[in-house]
Amino acid sequence: MYPLRRNRRLRANESIRHLVRETILTPSDFLVPLFVVEGKGVREEITSMPDYYRLSLDHLEKEVKELWGMGLCAVLLFVKVPDPLKDNKGTEALNPDGLMQRAIKAVKNACPDMLVMTDVALDPYSSFGHDGIVKDGQIVNDDTVDVLAEMSVSHAAAGANFVAPSDMMDGRILSIREALEDEGHVNTGIMSYSAKYASAFYGPFRDALDSAPAAIKDVPKDKKTYQMDSANRFEAISETQQDIDEGADIVMIKPGLAYLDIVREIRNEVDVPIAVYQVSGEYAMLKAAAEKGWLDHDAVMMEQLISIKRAGANFIASYFAKDAVKLMG
Ligand code: PBG
Repeated sequence: MYPLRRNRRLRANESIRHLVRETILTPSDFLVPLFVVEGKGVREEITSMPDYYRLSLDHLEKEVKELWGMGLCAVLLFVKVPDPLKDNKGTEALNPDGLMQRAIKAVKNACPDMLVMTDVALDPYSSFGHDGIVKDGQIVNDDTVDVLAEMSVSHAAAGANFVAPSDMMDGRILSIREALEDEGHVNTGIMSYSAKYASAFYGPFRDALDSAPAAIKDVPKDKKTYQMDSANRFEAISETQQDIDEGADIVMIKPGLAYLDIVREIRNEVDVPIAVYQVSGEYAMLKAAAEKGWLDHDAVMMEQLISIKRAGANFIASYFAKDAVKLMG
């Protein structure tokens, strides 16, 4: 008798497909990245990220209330720093009354239970657009780590639940953990960007924050001396393991779609929660194709997000979070 098994029985209608579906997205699968700017009443669309906005603090408060109402319970904050405040050492990052510190308080004020994660890296504060201090044409590691540790303490003091170092300097997780403990912030967690690749998919994000590496003599033009080579796989596992050994509570793989093999490998290797960042370029590609009528926006969006979760993500940092939750109904 043939065929013994008819696989199509389990695909015959939406009810059976629903019953046997292995991966389901819920609002708690998302971390919402938010871009914050100075000013009042500012809600400006980012050119290369249609339908995504830079928000001043008053709009930020409105936004987080709306997110909370939709069941979205975690945000990841980034700030756009005015040019005059930028320098090589990212001095402004340590200002207790800086934009990030005020943004953390604004979110907590609007929505006390919203989980606040903060980006820890120098690039938005750096006059050179680098995640570290530039000296003699190099990005110096250890001096940068000292600033990152201080920055993390400052975010914790302002009320951040988790700091999220996205810089890829060596040894920063341990230094940050020690600094947080020394200052009594024992409950502030660390979500480490552990396997962060030197990716061209970050272009629109750098537009959003005006943070692209500068084209200046003696300054490296890309981030390849600290972010990972996209060709490498074993390195991703050891980077991640090292961050866990240094005290990371959550590890992250970034970008998403082009690196799902890495997500699965790391999922199989480690037992801490895994975040995946579906980055700005992934968002922009779909928006552009949908605008042209070449792809079905909602269907492709959900397919991408499900793929990331199926690969092993516990949650996804995504600019599509709101759109996806709306579709869930
Ligand atoms: C900076 C940072 C970047 C992103 C998150 N944190 C850009 C970079 O490393 O140049 C990219 C996020 C995105 O593209 O959506 N430390």
